[in-house]
Amino acid sequence: MSRADGVQETGAPLQTGVPVHVGVIMDGNGRWATSRNLPRVEGHRRGVEALRRCVRAAREIGIRYLTIYSFSSENWSRPVSEISELMGLLRRFLRHDLADLHAANVKVRIIGERAGLSRDLCLMLDEAEALTRDNTGLTLVVAFNYGSRQEIAEAAARLAAEVAAGTLRPEEITADLLGSRLSTAGIPDPDLIIRTSGEQRLSNFLLWQAAYAELVFLPIYWPEFDHAALLGAIQEYARRDRRFGGLAARTGS
Ligand code: FPP
Repeated sequence: MSRADGVQETGAPLQTGVPVHVGVIMDGNGRWATSRNLPRVEGHRRGVEALRRCVRAAREIGIRYLTIYSFSSENWSRPVSEISELMGLLRRFLRHDLADLHAANVKVRIIGERAGLSRDLCLMLDEAEALTRDNTGLTLVVAFNYGSRQEIAEAAARLAAEVAAGTLRPEEITADLLGSRLSTAGIPDPDLIIRTSGEQRLSNFLLWQAAYAELVFLPIYWPEFDHAALLGAIQEYARRDRRFGGLAARTGS
């Protein structure tokens, strides 16, 4: 079932080859700007426009979960001015786009450390999650101040605390149980991870969850990302033979 504007809604059968969950490493804002003799911040501003295009395209294509890497735990090592610009962009994104996201039935979920973020930003993040909690369309997972190793370490610490409290036995710890203590609990693992800018690495993004994700690296900078780029990555994904450690599905051999 499609809406009048052509955007798929929940319950619509997914087209074959469309990933349920797509993760995006939005890379290359700085290089995009520098290559045009613009300040790096201009690259981040254009990056927000690309993010809007990406969310819309994800809805149109029928993706159910979109996780975007917007600020990593390691980004604190950047100049203070750039950090404050990125914080400001998230604030503005929430202030200007939240109503539209809500109207489009998008459910917003935030993952990452809240410690280190200002109180007003934390309140905005809480408000975005609370407002859209019952929405049933695309789930937009914003990874902000996120680092996968830290997330896994925290999940391990939670399990250790349960063992220490006597509510869990060590032999009961499984991969699924650890996964249920991650910030992505309840969200299916990503099928496809896209990174722009030509860099080919995960950079501490969804390391646990990406165990069987297909990785697609696009040779464009993030501010250039659009519907066609997302579609191209999905077409590449659809050509892949996902075996999850088993045998080839197509040949059975
Ligand atoms: C990588 O480009 C991008 C980031 C570190 C931040 C991504 C942020 C946005 C797309 C805009 C902000 C959006 C929200 C919702 C906060 P880079 O600076 O590492 O580029 P470079 O590798 O070319 O220097």
